[in-house]
Order: sequence, then structure tokens, then C-alpha cells
Amino acid sequence: MNLNLKDKKVFISGSTKGIGFETARLFLEEGAKVIINGRTNKSVQDALSLLNNDNVSGLVADFIDDHQVKNLIDSIPNDIDILVNNVGIFQGKDFNDETVEDWNDHFKVNLMSGVQLSKHFLPKMIKRDWGRIIFISSECATLVPSDLLSYSVSKASINVFSSGLAKLTKGTNVTVNTIVPGSTLSEGSKKFLEETALRENKTKDQVEKKFFNDVRDSSLISRFLTVTEVANTILYFSSPLASGTNGASVRVDGGSMGSII
Ligand SMILES: NC(=O)c1ccc[n+]([C@@H]2O[C@H](COP(=O)([O-])OP(=O)(O)OC[C@H]3O[C@@H](n4cnc5c(N)ncnc54)[C@H](OP(=O)(O)O)[C@@H]3O)[C@@H](O)[C@H]2O)c1
Repeated sequence: MNLNLKDKKVFISGSTKGIGFETARLFLEEGAKVIINGRTNKSVQDALSLLNNDNVSGLVADFIDDHQVKNLIDSIPNDIDILVNNVGIFQGKDFNDETVEDWNDHFKVNLMSGVQLSKHFLPKMIKRDWGRIIFISSECATLVPSDLLSYSVSKASINVFSSGLAKLTKGTNVTVNTIVPGSTLSEGSKKFLEETALRENKTKDQVEKKFFNDVRDSSLISRFLTVTEVANTILYFSSPLASGTNGASVRVDGGSMGSII
């Protein structure tokens, strides 16, 4: 299938690793021009070296820092066709241990990054009558694990915001959609498997099996999704082929959320 992404200009927040990095790699394979982002010059340079493609460049900015966000937005070309609001942080913590700062950080990085970027780029996309804004939420938006409250609430707010933002595109060829991944084998999850395996003297396979038996027992595929499975979905809904989908939340959750739509 030709996704018709050649020469499309793409910005992906938080894309030196994990789902964002894989999304950048797949966009480059399709001939798109991609700008990646991470917090440090080293992480951005390392990712650019791995991607090793003339069509990719990088911008350093930490979404916790308003000043850096403003500079980032000023540095991204105004004619971006596809904005992927991927950046996200999470921290497993009991509600009683979570601080107000933890809550603020989750909202700043997970929600406000996309709010600020969309505020800048949506009017420009509407003026050119083409564009795609993709948000990355999480199965936690509806599963709401009790040790991931600030994360889950910030992710649910993304679905709400994205749905409302899509209404501003009425009558245009711009779409706004949210991809909702399940537990995915990004760097963070790999580290969790390795550390737990070491601590409990088990293999990584045993730890994964236990996680899907005890913690994410609603998952139908009963394994971590690969970053490629999630990124493939992001690419399709970013493409001109997905012109009929707008204002949607699209699950790539391996069935964990269980809802009929
Ligand atoms: N992995 C999962 O199981 C899973 C499940 C559902 C949803 N998601 C969502 O999918 C998205 C990607 O997750 P992931 O697991 O692929 O992430 P990841 O592997 O942890 O990578 C996070 C990326 O975001 C960047 N980043 C982190 N904090 C940042 C900040 N304050 N400012 C700018 N960049 C920042 C990191 O770059 P540097 O380190 O270079 O700064 C890195 O490139 C997130 O929104 C996450 O909530 C993930």
C-alpha cells in the first residue's frame, strides 16, 4: 500500500526513542521529511545517527520548560503537514506519594505540549486546507490503574481535547485523531522486564507472562505490542488515505480496553 506520504513535512514530539523514534523511522521509509525532538543534544544526535537519513533533522526542547517550548515552536517551519503529539511521561506511584509537582509535570508534558503545538499549527493547516494532527493517548485513559493516576488522567484529557479540536476542522481536509496504544515494548518497558527478571530471578518471558496474567489480564494478545505495531497505525492515520477518519480515538491496545467501539 502506498501511503502517499512522500515529501510530507512531519514533526514528532519526544521521538529520540520508543514509539516516536519508530514512527520517525517509518515516515522516513515512506519518503517524508521528519523533524525529531528530545530533551538533550546528545539524545537527539544519537537518534539522528541511528536514523542516518538526509530527510531527518532534530530539535532539542524539554516540554517542562515554557521558554524551551516557545523556542521550539519558533524553530519548526510553519508549513508542517503532520504533527504527531507523541511525547509522554509516566511514573508508577501510589496516589498518596504523588506530589502536586508530579501532577503538574504530567499535565505539562502529556497534555500541554500538544495544546501548544496544535494552537500554533492547526490554523496554518486549515489555511492550507490539508493537515493531520495525531495525539498519542494510552489504554490507561480508560483502564485507570490506581498507581498511575496522574498519567491516566492526563491521557484521558488528551482524548477529550483531541475530540474537541477536531470540531474546528469542519469542512476542511484537516483531521485530528488520537491513537490509543496498549502496553508497548519501548525502552521503558524493556527496562522494566529486565530489572524485574533480574530481581525475581526469572526470564523476561516469565515476567511478561506474569504481567499479562496479573496486571493487564484484559489484554487479548497477552503480550507487549511492538513499537512498529503502534507506529504503523500512526502512519496510516497520518496519511492522505485516512481522509474519512476525523475526531476519532483509534485503539492499538491488543484488545485490553474491551469496549465495542
Ligand atoms: N510504552 C508504552 O507502553 C505506552 C503505552 C501507551 C501509551 N504510550 C504513550 O506513547 C508515547 C511514547 O511512549 P514511549 O514508551 O515510546 O516513550 P519512551 O520510550 O519513554 O520515549 C520517550 C521519548 O520522549 C522524550 N521525552 C521525554 N520527556 C520529554 C520532555 N519533557 N520533553 C521532550 N521530550 C521528552 C524522550 O526523549 P529524550 O530522552 O531524548 O529526552 C524520548 O524520545 C507516550 O505518550 C506514552 O504515554 C506508551
